[in-house]
Amino acid sequence: MLERADKNRIENWLKGIDQFQTGEGDGTTRILFTEPELKARTYVKQQMAALGLEVTEDAIGNIFGTLKGSDPSLAPVWTGSHIDTVSNAGMFDGMSGIVCGMEALHLIKNSSMEHKRDISVIVYTSEEPERFGLSCLGSRAMAGALSLEDTKILYDKEGISLYQLLKDLGYDENRYHEIQKQTGDVFASVELHIEQNSILEKAGVPIGIVCGICAPTNFSVKITGVQSHAGGTSMDDRRDAFMAAAELALRLEDITKKSTSEYITGTVGKVNVFPNAINVISGDTEISIDIRSIDMKAKDVAVESLKYEAERIEEERKVEINMKMENHDLPLRCDETIMEIEKESCKKLGIPYRTMISGPYHDSLFVGRFAPAAMIFVPSKNGISHSKEEWTDYSDLAIGADVLTETLYTLANQAG
Ligand code: GLV
Ligand code: MN
Ligand code: MN
Repeated sequence: MLERADKNRIENWLKGIDQFQTGEGDGTTRILFTEPELKARTYVKQQMAALGLEVTEDAIGNIFGTLKGSDPSLAPVWTGSHIDTVSNAGMFDGMSGIVCGMEALHLIKNSSMEHKRDISVIVYTSEEPERFGLSCLGSRAMAGALSLEDTKILYDKEGISLYQLLKDLGYDENRYHEIQKQTGDVFASVELHIEQNSILEKAGVPIGIVCGICAPTNFSVKITGVQSHAGGTSMDDRRDAFMAAAELALRLEDITKKSTSEYITGTVGKVNVFPNAINVISGDTEISIDIRSIDMKAKDVAVESLKYEAERIEEERKVEINMKMENHDLPLRCDETIMEIEKESCKKLGIPYRTMISGPYHDSLFVGRFAPAAMIFVPSKNGISHSKEEWTDYSDLAIGADVLTETLYTLANQAG
């Protein structure tokens, strides 16, 4: 008999992880391989070991806590998420998937029931792009989309490469090739995550069965105009880099709002204006562009329209716009067999659910390239995330953990 999840244990683990952060009273900040992140890794490994899980780590820092099954010849079942955060975030995005995964493995271990396959809870390295400007580093490497050579040209803002950082931390580059997984290596993967939208809350439904994950396309854009005097340069004479950036941002908004895609978003989250002074027209402005969609074709169309607009703005405003594509990731349709098992688990437990698309991306986007993957969402208060206001009730996490436990248990007993 599988017992029900304990919301107090979930709360304690979440707070245990959250003690390691530098948010300075303004939410949680825990950036990849900074001191708090390294301490949080140690804490999670200790908690996994205390549960009796076998703890291992690969050459990019993906952490595995494994509950051994009775048949070592069968491919394992995975769950997991991340423990790094964006700046001034909450304590649920990513961490919920780790602690609910640990709770699920604890409940399965403590039941007297057999499970055949190994079940691992995984902390994927750096789902957030905060340090290196690229998301999902650990799961991306697992999918073979981040080679050792790639780590040598990925720099943080201090000019440290990911390669150097891994080396300094003692990760063995000779084992880098072991990170990549092939189809068949993993039987199934189920990630629990907070919804980061308000659909579940508004519908009063505790569980989201994710049917697809939107993927990001990111650009870093440099706009070069001419720096000059705010009063002395008449409106017709200026070549204002910031105004060109602003126009490009508004065109992005138009393009994504008018798209017929089932779900698409366009965001300019980062703006650096140089020299950033009240009475100076900017000669250089940098912006980030983030386009997400569940439909790759719609994303391609949006990208082409944006490039066309950039050329038009260049000509009209006599500026230069350099758009560097950082990534152009493929959306994922979740595995329908796993989704069915998730739904059956909800029915068995008497828990209402609804099916939904994820606008945010997750490590499952990359895990889904080499394994059948699906997700379980739990409600986010007011739909807010990537903010210190992010909140999910512990009791809602416990409901999610119950569905996760049932689902993992069923998968772990399925024949090949
Ligand atoms: C992940 O945090 C995302 O930006 O979707
Ligand atoms: Mn996030
Ligand atoms: Mn996340």
